[in-house]
Amino acid sequence: MQTITLNNGVEIPVLGFGVYQVPDDETEHVVAQALEAGYRHIDTAASYQNERSVGRALAASGIPRDELFVTTKLWMEHAGQDATPAAFERSLDRLGLDYVDLYLIHQPFNDYFGAWRAMEQLLAQGRARAIGVSNFLPDRLVDLIVHNDVTPAVNQIETHVFYQRAEDHRVMRAYGVRHESWGPFAEGRNNMFADPTLTAIAAAHGRSVGQVVLRWLIQRDVIVIPKSVRPERMRENLAVFDFELTAAEMDQIAAMDTNTSLFFDHRDPAIVDQFSKRHIDV
Ligand SMILES: NC(=O)c1ccc[n+]([C@@H]2O[C@H](COP(=O)([O-])OP(=O)(O)OC[C@H]3O[C@@H](n4cnc5c(N)ncnc54)[C@H](OP(=O)(O)O)[C@@H]3O)[C@@H](O)[C@H]2O)c1
Repeated sequence: MQTITLNNGVEIPVLGFGVYQVPDDETEHVVAQALEAGYRHIDTAASYQNERSVGRALAASGIPRDELFVTTKLWMEHAGQDATPAAFERSLDRLGLDYVDLYLIHQPFNDYFGAWRAMEQLLAQGRARAIGVSNFLPDRLVDLIVHNDVTPAVNQIETHVFYQRAEDHRVMRAYGVRHESWGPFAEGRNNMFADPTLTAIAAAHGRSVGQVVLRWLIQRDVIVIPKSVRPERMRENLAVFDFELTAAEMDQIAAMDTNTSLFFDHRDPAIVDQFSKRHIDV
């Protein structure tokens, strides 16, 4: 599997498997199927409330720990210098692991400066091999970077053909932060899988639309974590390393950008309010 080297030297598989919205009672089976298909990089979060089931699948797989790359995320109600280490321990406990490969601040809300300073300690102690953030807009990201010791290894943000994040990408690269896409298929919104531009490019390569968009992201040096509960799609989404999009095809896809979120605007006060009401601990 192709990897990307993070700013502290840790290697992350460029393609992983996301488990957002996979119901807890299906997650163990789904992750077992993903591992069987060949995924070694799994992306979960405390707020997905399926860490325990992810952990059971990892343990049952028998795959050596150092061949796995596991990401989880801190929910905002636990952001803070005291609350964050305790929340991290609960995640590790649910996952049945003694370290994670990547620990992310899930949302740029609440006391994320305190959270970051606690995460710098977790990094120094080797409990997290890399630390990063998610859903940070460029101004918040740079503020965090310039006022702390450790620069986030990753910023995981909504990124797909309709919201390509070119300016975010430029700022991240300037500071050594890797761009990770969430929602690489836009969860199918805007009828993405039937889009005429994407279908034509897919036909030219004898590939699926899903494979074309994952390939397009990887060729932009973006880490991807597609989600599927179906084994045939899990395999399809992994098979993106034996073809290449041309510069003209990359340009055609670049022209699809609407530069607008299809999900949430993190600057919208109603979203901040709504997210802050989500309490997750179990
Ligand atoms: N940090 C954050 O705030 C945040 C937010 C959202 C997501 N994420 C992470 O990013 C991961 C991916 O994003 P996402 O789950 O929101 O959405 P996504 O990967 O863009 O889309 C998943 C949807 O696409 C379908 N699908 C998957 N492969 C397909 C294929 N080859 N052909 C046709 N349809 C296909 C899936 O259906 P089936 O399952 O039925 O196949 C599912 O409905 C998440 O699982 C999570 O780990 C993070």
